[in-house]
Amino acid sequence: MSKVIAMAGKGGVGKTTVSALVTRFFAKHQNDPLLAIDADPNSNLGETLGLEIEKTVGDIREDFMKDPQGVPSGMDKIVYLEMLMNQVLIEQNTFDLLVMGRQEGQGCYCMVNNILNRFADQLESNYKYLLVDNEAGMEHLSRRTKGKVDVLLMVTDYALRGLRAVGRINEMLGDLKIEVKHKAIIVNRAPKELSKVFLDEVERIGVPILCSIPDDKNLLEFDMEQRSLLELDDDSPAVYSINRMMQKVKEIIG
Ligand SMILES: Nc1ncnc2c1ncn2[C@@H]1O[C@H](COP(=O)(O)OP(=O)(O)OP(=O)(O)O)[C@@H](O)[C@H]1O
Ligand SMILES: [Mg+2]
Repeated sequence: MSKVIAMAGKGGVGKTTVSALVTRFFAKHQNDPLLAIDADPNSNLGETLGLEIEKTVGDIREDFMKDPQGVPSGMDKIVYLEMLMNQVLIEQNTFDLLVMGRQEGQGCYCMVNNILNRFADQLESNYKYLLVDNEAGMEHLSRRTKGKVDVLLMVTDYALRGLRAVGRINEMLGDLKIEVKHKAIIVNRAPKELSKVFLDEVERIGVPILCSIPDDKNLLEFDMEQRSLLELDDDSPAVYSINRMMQKVKEIIG
C-alpha cells in the first residue's frame, strides 16, 4: 500500500510550496518512487516544479464527454481512456506528477469517472509514496486519497486566521470519513519564536507542530524568475526546514 502524504490549509498559506519542497526532498534524497498529485483545479504544482502541463485528467474527461464518438475506430473506449491517461502522467527520473485538473461539472460523468479513477488507483499502487497537493478547504481531500491519509500536513501561515482554519479542518475530518493516521501542523513564514497566543491556539486545536518554515527570500526570487523549486539549494531556509521535517515524517509513517 502506498503511503499518502496530503496537504490541507487555507488559501495561499503555502500548501503548494510545501508540496514542491517535499517532492524535492524525495527527488534529491530518496530512492523511493513518489507520485506527486496536483489535486487543485487551479493546478500550479507542476509550474513550481518547472514542468509544463499539457493535459490534465479533467481535460480527458471533458474531451471524452464532448465527443464520445471520438474513440478511434476499432479501439475499445476503456483502452482509449487508459492510453490518454498515460499521456497525462508526467514522468521524471526521480518522481512522477499527475495533474487532476478541473473536477467534473454538471451531468453524469459516472462511467468516465469510474474508469479514470480505476486507472488512477492502478497507477498509484506503483508508488511507495503519494503526495497530494489539495486546494484550500477540505471538500476534495477525500477524492484522490480514497479514505486514507498516512500524514495530513496542515499548513498555516503565522496568523491566527490561518491557524483557526486548521482548527476547522481538524474538526471536519470526522465528517469526511477519511482515516487520517497522523496529523501535523506546519507553520509557514514563521518567526524564530512563536507567540504565546499562537501556541495557546495550537494547544487548543490539539495537533502538534511538526515544523516551522521561515520566510525564504529565494522562493520569491525563484517565482519571479520562473525557476523550478527543485533547483533550490539544500541550505535555502525553507528547504532546510522541509528536509528536516521529512526525516521526521518518514520516521512517523515508515
Ligand atoms: N516560506 C516562504 N517564504 C517566502 N515565500 C513563501 C513561503 N511560502 C510560500 N511563499 C509564497 O507564498 C505564495 C503562496 O504560496 P502557495 O502557492 O504555496 O500557497 P497555497 O497554499 O498553495 O495557495 P492556494 O491555496 O492558492 O493553492 C507563493 O508566491 C509562495 O512563493
Ligand atoms: Mg496551492
